[in-house]
Amino acid sequence: MKLKQKKSDELFLKAQELIPGGIFGHYKFAVREEGPKFFSRAKNAYFWDIDGNKYLDLICGWGPMILGYNNSKIDKAARTQYDLGNTVSVASPVMVELAETLTDLVDIADWALFGKNGGDSTQLAVMVARAETGKSKILKIKDGYHGANGWMQNKNNPGIINSDSEEVLSISWNDLDEFDEMISSFGNEIACFISSSYDHPTSKDSSLPKEGYWKHIEKKCSENNIVLIVDDVRTGFRIDLKGSHNAFGFSPDLVCLGKAMANGYPISALVGKASLKDAANKVYFSGTQFFNSAPMAASKATLEELQNLNAIEIMNTNGLKLKDDLSNAAKAFGLEIKVSGVPSMPYFRIEDQTKNFHVDWTDECLSRGLYLTSYHNHFLSVAHGENEINEIVRIASEAFEAISI
Ligand SMILES: Cc1ncc(COP(=O)(O)O)c(C=O)c1O
Repeated sequence: MKLKQKKSDELFLKAQELIPGGIFGHYKFAVREEGPKFFSRAKNAYFWDIDGNKYLDLICGWGPMILGYNNSKIDKAARTQYDLGNTVSVASPVMVELAETLTDLVDIADWALFGKNGGDSTQLAVMVARAETGKSKILKIKDGYHGANGWMQNKNNPGIINSDSEEVLSISWNDLDEFDEMISSFGNEIACFISSSYDHPTSKDSSLPKEGYWKHIEKKCSENNIVLIVDDVRTGFRIDLKGSHNAFGFSPDLVCLGKAMANGYPISALVGKASLKDAANKVYFSGTQFFNSAPMAASKATLEELQNLNAIEIMNTNGLKLKDDLSNAAKAFGLEIKVSGVPSMPYFRIEDQTKNFHVDWTDECLSRGLYLTSYHNHFLSVAHGENEINEIVRIASEAFEAISI
């Protein structure tokens, strides 16, 4: 199927003159020759591109959108605060209110600090761990994504130098032997272990922690004066409102939050246990825009709305329906689709087929108005109800049919 995309193509050409690559960062990977490049508006689970094509969105702005685009309650909370003042020379009381909302909600949280992006909170977490322990090394998972700062990137990436990752050690996900070996060899130098609560790499199935994994890590970290950091930037408020660690039964020292905490308004947070409050106070962490009060008001409203709606239950129910219905739809065409990860963040892979076959399927979905990717986990929101799931499965079935003939 062909999409109307004359305006998109023209604007993308102009963008390429003005912006290196025409688009950058993680948005760059998702641009398809045939597919939307610029939105004109968005509402609930849908967005429209500048050529007027409508898409049911399974990407949710790469995670922030959790209550539906342009949610009137959240937008009203932000607008009310904007009208009072957004960036002013002193902080707004809403900063304290949001810290209270977060510490009431996230079970390990005794304090909160705020930034803009997830990478601000993961950077701060590591600095707090170093300030507390006086050690320098960071232990992470090989595929783990924590943002775009030097130490977080692949060492072969352009612009990254060896010293960026000199203090970074990496191990495979779910491998306790490798973890124990690193602790035996470098325990005295490791300041922190940073990881998402389950593995959600690109271009691979997502993988949940094996039995006893986190309890073992929690114990070893505590015995070796290593700060345990959960990077909940992607998973935060999509698995458990108390923090995704709660769903997996362990207790980290620090939790990094971002993406969904304000339904798209720019804010991130680091929350932590009381034992690290002094270290957090000593670290210099700042940014001109970190004190914007409208995103703080949006975040407070988002966290309250997620609780009022029982959002996790809604996303789990609909995510499980999506998994079952999509699997059945694929079977009808002799295909098997593996859906991994938690229900609100499904990763899709068509079994026993080439990567190109899968990419063809996503392209067929895209041209029929379903926005998804072939290499990244997807995101559900509260706005993805039963009707939206049925619509996703209807489009996916047509796409299965198109690639099976
Ligand atoms: C697990 C995880 N941590 C950190 C980040 C970085 O967040 P941001 O892009 O907001 O800096 C991301 C972004 O995708 C993420 O998925």
